Amino acid sequence: MKRLENRVAIVTGGSNGIGKSTCQKFAAEGAKVIIWDLNEGAGNQLANEIDGEFYMVNTADYEAVGKATKAVIEKHGKIDILINNAGITRDATLKKMTPDQWQQVIDVNLTGVFNCGKHIQAHMTEAGYGRIVNTSSVVGIYGNFGQSNYVATKAGVIGLTKVWARELGRKGVTANAVAPGFIATDMVMAMPDNVIDMMKSKVPTGTLGKPEDIANAYCFLASEEAGYINGATISVDGGMTV
Ligand code: NAI
Repeated sequence: MKRLENRVAIVTGGSNGIGKSTCQKFAAEGAKVIIWDLNEGAGNQLANEIDGEFYMVNTADYEAVGKATKAVIEKHGKIDILINNAGITRDATLKKMTPDQWQQVIDVNLTGVFNCGKHIQAHMTEAGYGRIVNTSSVVGIYGNFGQSNYVATKAGVIGLTKVWARELGRKGVTANAVAPGFIATDMVMAMPDNVIDMMKSKVPTGTLGKPEDIANAYCFLASEEAGYINGATISVDGGMTV
């Protein structure tokens, strides 16, 4: 039997990058994958490829997330897995960061995670089963130059995950976080070779991670096998944070 057979899984930010790889992995493992993203073209194309569904959802919008949750429940009757993966950056030093840059990142990376967790937990706890995986980052643990907004959200996600683990555990719902390191997404691979080499030199494995590496961690945490892992933050970073 496949690891996610008969599971209904929502992947936010599923149209691109790590989220796309996650949708492909989850579909291959038997899940009915539902993509919540702003990128309609890529999301619909992927949904067709994996026999999944695409919903245009801005996760930062509480009402929109509520409507989408209702639609999924009406169609499928349950939501087993939530992968809170959507995220953005608006980098600037503290000196130069505008309140708007700060707020945009808080709205998507932190409030978006709250919005999805808030709406979906009601159905998971009622069903007595659920797996929530939130996306943090290596920088949420160690900080990073020029990323006050992003780091605040990624550290916040770790705290949020621990609270949900405590609040929802008795209801059969686990909450965990994944902290990716340097992942070779299109954006990273478009950087100059010397920058990529510098990134690799900071990783004990000497390599960048692949989107599939994060998808594999999400998949494990979303599976039955991870039932006794709750409130953890799993670093998937080639040992960068050791
Ligand atoms: P990406 O930029 O390739 O994909 C993010 C997806 O989220 C896009 O499809 C975008 O349309 C969607 N999205 C953005 N705002 C949204 C919103 N308000 N509502 C719904 N969808 C929205 O990003 P990537 O690199 O795949 O990152 C995925 C997650 O992993 C993010 O949370 C990111 O912070 C985290 N991460 C990524 C790392 C990397 O090296 N790529 C390292 C550490 C963490």
